[in-house]
Amino acid sequence: MITDWKAPNFVHGEAFPLTAGHSGLRCVSCHANTAFTSTETACITCHRDDYISVESPNHQANGYPEDCLECHTTSNWDTPFDHQTTQFPLSGRHPRQIASCHSSGQFAGLDGHCWSCHAADYETTNTPDHQEIQLPHQCEGCHTAQNWDASFGQ
Ligand code: HEC
Ligand code: HEC
Ligand code: HEC
Ligand code: HEC
Ligand code: HEC
Repeated sequence: MITDWKAPNFVHGEAFPLTAGHSGLRCVSCHANTAFTSTETACITCHRDDYISVESPNHQANGYPEDCLECHTTSNWDTPFDHQTTQFPLSGRHPRQIASCHSSGQFAGLDGHCWSCHAADYETTNTPDHQEIQLPHQCEGCHTAQNWDASFGQ
């Protein structure tokens, strides 16, 4: 016997499971015009205003990726993202301004080898002339991110 119109057998589309902050919402919050199958799944389509309104850090000015999942979950907008757990923890004199290293808008897959950002420092150094005596490009063998004094041979 049917006792109510709850729908325990309804499972939301696999392409967009209603997890965390998306559970318990009224269907109409996302399906306003009764369109179902053609609903966009990209975070930015529904959260553009959230993205634009963040001031600290300013997502738009820093060119943050529009795939929010790179740094957030659907639970809330606090971020579990922590630079220190990446393959390139920020140590020494490495700047904390996002634009110093991500001005191109690239975050994932950025080359972390010293050479990719410090080739010019290597090429212009005369004491000793790194290029002439062909020192290795792996700066970390002799330097840290603290300064360009070398711990080599000490
Ligand atoms: C937070 C946003 C959100 C809420 C809330 C939401 N949906 Fe959806 N829904 C989507 C998105 C995004 C898609 C597109 C996913 C896809 O293409 O399968 C979708 C797809 C669907 C589809 C089509 C699935 C398919 O297989 O083609 C149906 C039916 C549907 N939703 C019903 C509902 C019902 C009923 C509710 C309320 C219980 C609901 N939705 C609540 C975002 C939402
Ligand atoms: C079809 C529209 C739609 C899409 C696509 C969508 N959301 Fe949502 N989302 C909503 C709605 C509606 C709410 C509830 C109202 C609100 O808090 O903005 C919500 C709430 C949230 C919340 C909770 C916010 C809070 O303050 O509690 C988070 C976090 C979130 N979404 C993250 C995401 C992420 C990450 C994606 C991409 C994977 C995404 N959403 C895709 C419609 C959508
Ligand atoms: C490159 C990482 C990154 C991406 C991608 C990203 N964010 Fe964020 N977001 C952050 C960081 C870091 C914060 C600061 C969180 C804090 O202070 O705890 C933040 C904060 C926010 C806040 C404010 C939270 C608060 O309570 O003040 C909102 C809203 C937000 N993000 C929305 C978005 C949306 C929407 C997207 C996708 C369209 C997105 N973000 C993509 C890193 C990111
Ligand atoms: C993604 C780019 C990037 C990578 C990779 C990188 N750095 Fe840096 N580094 C910077 C930027 C930007 C600065 C600040 C501007 C400057 O001083 O050149 C900086 C500053 C420094 C400084 C301070 C220079 C000074 O005079 O204050 C040292 C030392 C340094 N880096 C060493 C290293 C070493 C060693 C590695 C490899 C383990 C490395 N960096 C990898 C971008 C990078
Ligand atoms: C084999 C060891 C070694 C390697 C590898 C190495 N260096 Fe050096 N570097 C030195 C030594 C030794 C000095 C002189 C330090 C001093 O005077 O205290 C030096 C000094 C420097 C200075 C400072 C020069 C000055 O005038 O103050 C810079 C800048 C520098 N290195 C950049 C680099 C960069 C960038 C790389 C990697 C692409 C690199 N080095 C790799 C040994 C090395």
